[in-house]
Amino acid sequence: MFERLELISADAILSLMAAFRADPDPRKVDLGVGVYRDERGETPIPAAVRTAESALLARQTTKTYVGPAGNLGFNAEVARLVLGAEHEALVTERVRAIQCPGGCGALRLGAELIHYASPDSVVHVSDPTWVNHVPLLSGSGLRLERYPYYDAATGGVRFAEMAAALERLPPRAVVLLHASCHNPTGADLSQGEWRELLSLVKRRQLLPFIDMAYQGLGEGLEADAFGLRLFTAELPEVLFAVSCSKNFGLYRERTGALGVVCDTAAQADAAMSQLVRLARGLWSMPPDHGAAIVHGVLTDAALRAQWLEELDTMRKRVQGLRREVVRALAEHCPRRDFSFIARHHGMFSLFGISTAQVRELRAQHHVYMVDDSRMNVAGLRRENLEYFARSVGAVLAGGAGG
Ligand SMILES: Cc1ncc(COP(=O)(O)O)c(C=O)c1O
Repeated sequence: MFERLELISADAILSLMAAFRADPDPRKVDLGVGVYRDERGETPIPAAVRTAESALLARQTTKTYVGPAGNLGFNAEVARLVLGAEHEALVTERVRAIQCPGGCGALRLGAELIHYASPDSVVHVSDPTWVNHVPLLSGSGLRLERYPYYDAATGGVRFAEMAAALERLPPRAVVLLHASCHNPTGADLSQGEWRELLSLVKRRQLLPFIDMAYQGLGEGLEADAFGLRLFTAELPEVLFAVSCSKNFGLYRERTGALGVVCDTAAQADAAMSQLVRLARGLWSMPPDHGAAIVHGVLTDAALRAQWLEELDTMRKRVQGLRREVVRALAEHCPRRDFSFIARHHGMFSLFGISTAQVRELRAQHHVYMVDDSRMNVAGLRRENLEYFARSVGAVLAGGAGG
């Protein structure tokens, strides 16, 4: 059976990681893989997470199964974190959350629910969107289409074009939105744009599926959830995928949740029962460890406060780097305006250079970013900012590939 399978090349980001590791040059800069890095270039485990993990190991007496919905305490806490504890949809019990293996698992499970409820649904994703959205969502059998999103000329969102495209969609079309820290562009909707989008989504009766992978890493825990909270309060149905990979530093523990918001508590119960059934057929039960740690952090006042401080530090570091890299680029590339990088949120910005220039940066200067020029700003350090900006200046002056 398998003799007919073709060898395919590894995922572009995974190949980039391997090439970076193999590069012996001490000046090398990794702006490729999408993980947070501190000033030492490390991806730390937050101290609050470490403490909660030690406490968990000390008190855990069994590893028996938890159940297909995962850790129920985690599900409740994550819904409160994302929506705010007093949110109308929580008070009226219109929301259910189910633990999933990371935000990826949540995206897939959400797609499976949509496919089960309405197999001909089309999911509309931003142009561009995170590359893994495509296999995660279309793997369920749903068809994907793109709506205009990023304006490379301004570094902002082409909101009028986006709205015009969504305005043409039929009722019940699914629109995938990034809650904040858009991956790969870094360009987010403003609060005014979220409000405008809400009235469009209401009028056209669209189903929003909101991907929340970076809460707290953009403008703050509350601000990053603005659109999701607004939509959840105002619409009868919303799906949201939550990842605890970045804000809790739990990447490999595969910790996330899918939230489903329905018009009534009874409909939410029905949707949840279907999610449990679908999860049973996908992974049966999600891994417990990361969810139990997040539950420990969020339910202990001291640990929660410590985690919030650590998250603030991460966010401020990225915001500071954005300002500093704009300054360094203005000095070394005076003919090109990179000021949009400081207006972006989260770890990523679409840098806006050609693939040929990205490759020259890699080959000549050991600076690694994804071919579409997505850069992980958190991969910069004060000590390599100048080197990075000088390298970009040299590549732009050389005119590689326009
Ligand atoms: C936009 C977006 N959504 C979802 C995820 C899911 O992350 P995970 O499955 O690691 O929780 C990521 C991770 O990089 C992401 O960038």
